[in-house]
Parts: sequence; structure tokens; C-alpha cells
Amino acid sequence: MSTYTGPRRHADDPERRKWQNPEALLADIGLKPGMVIADIGCGGGFFALPAARILGEKGQVYGVDIDAGSVSELESLAAKEGLTNIKLTVGKAEQAVLCNSCADVVFFGIDLHDFEDPNQVLRNARKMLRPGGELVDLDWKKEPMPLGPPLQKRFSENDAARLISAAGFKVVNTKDVGPYHYLITARK
Ligand SMILES: C[S@@+](CC[C@H](N)C(=O)[O-])C[C@H]1O[C@@H](n2cnc3c(N)ncnc32)[C@H](O)[C@@H]1O
Repeated sequence: MSTYTGPRRHADDPERRKWQNPEALLADIGLKPGMVIADIGCGGGFFALPAARILGEKGQVYGVDIDAGSVSELESLAAKEGLTNIKLTVGKAEQAVLCNSCADVVFFGIDLHDFEDPNQVLRNARKMLRPGGELVDLDWKKEPMPLGPPLQKRFSENDAARLISAAGFKVVNTKDVGPYHYLITARK
């Protein structure tokens, strides 16, 4: 059963698209046809669906989310579009290694701060990432703003970088993505 109490993130949510463009972000992180991405806390597929469109038949999206409703919604949307390259799991990211050493990108879409045990989730991410692959952590800046989760729930860039490093990654870049978010990339 889901313990997540935040808002559901629907794929193609027009309100969210006013402040976040998933296609632009996925292009910016270098997602290309044929790659493998693991979307941890994929929700309703705001990033997973555009990723599946970009990756094409030879690529693969793995997704996990604790919220069965979001996963089932994403499954229906993918089926409606004829996307066969999305494999989804309902469950806790703390217990999920979706594939071993297979992912070109392990992606966290505004959710690292949501997990009960982010350390364990990041250790799992390390198992999923192939050598040379990138961990990508997109999250809310810890600053007052009109949108997003309560300030005390958020990880600052430094908090997130510390957690990512403690799980055995090397942070390679941290940058702003628009006014509300930062993006951290890291490698094994
Ligand atoms: C803010 S939403 C982001 C969803 C998606 N990444 C997006 O960008 O639309 C956070 C997601 O994390 C999921 N979540 C929270 N705790 C989780 C856990 N322990 N394991 C797996 N998913 C979890 C929630 O169900 C929710 O879908």
C-alpha cells in the first residue's frame, strides 16, 4: 500500500508543463534512441512516457513506484500509444533493483526527498547503473517559492550531493534547471 501523500504527477499534465518540459530535460541529459533508463519513483509517467518515445523500440524504460494507481495509469497510457518498451514495477524503491548494471541513466524526477530511505535507494541505483552510465537527480531547490513540497522536506543541492557521494558515486555536475529545480549528474 502506498504511503506517499504528495500530489499525483500525471503524464502530460498541462499545468506542470507550464513550469517543466520533460522532453527538453531528457534531451539535455543526453537520452538517445536505444538507451536504457531506470525511472525511480516514476509516478504517472511525466518523464517515463516521453523517455519511452525518445528511446524507441530498441530502448527500454524501467520504472518503479510505490503507488499502484499511478503505475496502472502509466501502463494504460503506454498501451494506448502502443509503447512496448516500458517495464513497470509496483513497490518500494528501497527494495527495487530493476536490472543489474544495465541502465545508461538512473533518473530521479523530483522525488529523491520523498523516499523513506534515500541512502538505500541510491545504493540500489548504483547496482542498476552500467559502467559509464549517469545518475541524474532532478529536484526542487530548497528555497521559498510558490510551488513544490514543504521546504523542510527538500534536499538542498549540497544535501543531495552528499547523499549521492555517500552511496559511492562521484558527482560530476550540478546546475540550475529553470527557477525551481537543480539537476545533479553523477557517475560510479
Ligand atoms: C513527486 S512524485 C514524482 C513522480 C515522477 N517522478 C514525476 O516526476 O512525475 C514522487 C513519486 O515517488 C513515489 N514514491 C514515494 N515514495 C516511494 C518509495 N519509497 N518507493 C517508490 N516510489 C515512491 C510516489 O508514489 C510518487 O509517484
